[in-house]
Amino acid sequence: MITIAVANQKGGVGKTTTAINVATALAATGWKVLLIDLDPQGNASTGIGIPAEARERSSYDLLIDQATIAECAMPTRIPGLDIVPATVDLSGAEVELVSVEDRTGRLRAALAQDAGHDICLIDCPPSLGLLTLNSLTAADTLLVPLQCEFFALEGLSQLLKTVERVQQRFNPDLGIVGIVLTMFDRRNRLTDQVADDVRSCLRELVFESVIPRNVRLSEAPSHGLPALVYDHTCAGSQAYIKLARELIARLPQQRKAA
Ligand SMILES: Nc1ncnc2c1ncn2[C@@H]1O[C@H](COP(=O)(O)OP(=O)(O)O)[C@@H](O)[C@H]1O
Ligand SMILES: [Mg+2]
Repeated sequence: MITIAVANQKGGVGKTTTAINVATALAATGWKVLLIDLDPQGNASTGIGIPAEARERSSYDLLIDQATIAECAMPTRIPGLDIVPATVDLSGAEVELVSVEDRTGRLRAALAQDAGHDICLIDCPPSLGLLTLNSLTAADTLLVPLQCEFFALEGLSQLLKTVERVQQRFNPDLGIVGIVLTMFDRRNRLTDQVADDVRSCLRELVFESVIPRNVRLSEAPSHGLPALVYDHTCAGSQAYIKLARELIARLPQQRKAA
């Protein structure tokens, strides 16, 4: 299984939207996909149609009680896409993890036991705490959604420093599969400027596919559906389909599924 952490310590940059829609696009191309909701807000779980009362086991159980993926994953209405949902008790995990053994390696240990999936996407919370550290320690590679706004590059350098620390201490093989520009608004000159800066700074690390600001993407979660299912023709869905293709092409050849 290949594991991708979707991370950026800034909130509201499109992590969850990216995790849900890339996971859906991968499932649609025949991969067996596991989505792990690692944000106590549980937006990925809600957005994929798993209401709070339907969540029996969760990512909290994985991390704190060392439950298995098999025990905690549940199917979604998307064929080929399972989810380990998040519940509110995950907000306590950040503190509870401090005093457990191997506190950054809990998720990696759980994923190592999984046999049922080809690829795993982890939707990270908006912080660089122990939840995100677990995710970066468990991941093969990192996918970074970046909103084109003024301080985008500053936030990114903080994230990249954390990646270096994780590489040194916990996960030497952690890679960065790419940075995706989100909520792109071509009518906004600042957006264009930031996009140019990011590309000239990070070059081929930045995906060619850009996710436009698109109202359908923001409507879909309230229907408990990925935008790709809610309206697969909208500009946002089409952009995520393109992104998923680019992502697959960047994954190590021998580990690709179909
Ligand atoms: N490309 C987009 N166009 C319009 N709205 C978006 C887009 N991407 C995300 N959103 C909306 O913006 C908000 C934050 O996105 P979200 O994916 O939850 O970010 P994060 O997980 O990084 O906090 C959500 O309400 C989401 O529906
Ligand atoms: Mg989120």
